[in-house]
Amino acid sequence: MELAPKSPSASETTITELMIPSYANFGGKIHGGILLGLMDKVAYACAAKHTGSYCVTVSVENVEFLAPVEVGQLVSLKARINYVGRTSLVVGIRVESEDIKTGQVTHTNTSYFTMVAKDDHNKPTLVRPLLLQNKEEVRRFFEAIIRKNNRNFFKEEMEKARINIDLDEELSRLEGERCVIDFEA
Ligand SMILES: CC(C)(COP(=O)(O)OP(=O)(O)OC[C@H]1O[C@@H](n2cnc3c(N)ncnc32)[C@H](O)[C@@H]1OP(=O)(O)O)[C@@H](O)C(=O)NCCC(=O)NCCS
Repeated sequence: MELAPKSPSASETTITELMIPSYANFGGKIHGGILLGLMDKVAYACAAKHTGSYCVTVSVENVEFLAPVEVGQLVSLKARINYVGRTSLVVGIRVESEDIKTGQVTHTNTSYFTMVAKDDHNKPTLVRPLLLQNKEEVRRFFEAIIRKNNRNFFKEEMEKARINIDLDEELSRLEGERCVIDFEA
């Protein structure tokens, strides 16, 4: 039976959380891992709303923390489905921090979580199509395809490089790098 398509807005999910002292590192800034945990949570909620099934995280792309997050700030994580494959789907997450006193909002990162829907036997299961209702949604869908193709290309290139690398020949390319090679040490 063909599953009915659903729009990204039907599963859009936002979590807002107060950054408390136990989330901070020794430097007083929020641990990246805390933000990643919150991103995983909101990605799951969004994916589960779209699929109506249990979902698992398979990969995370574009994790770059562009600005530090401070204790006492509010962090909002907005998740929406960007792309749907056969059993996988990509959730785009925009993270913003907000200084409560000044009201200043800072974009801290945008990352992409690939999730896979699972059936009751823990097997990947078909995901309903995505209903794209405007050009922004089409652009996000396209960009997810480009990222997927780039990822596959990069994987193949790394495999080739690994097979072909001749360490004795390549050693000279490490000149100027901040490493010391001493096999006797
Ligand atoms: C990822 C997983 C579901 C793949 O299962 P599988 O039986 O090999 O299934 P398939 O090869 O058919 O892949 C299923 C889908 O995942 C996608 N996929 C698999 N590996 C992927 C990767 N590294 N990155 C992105 N997508 C991936 C496939 O492209 C496929 O998508 P599609 O159906 O939309 O085309 C399975 O390895 C798994 O359950 N991993 C553990 C995930 C987990 O527990 N995460 C929680 C964190 S601990």
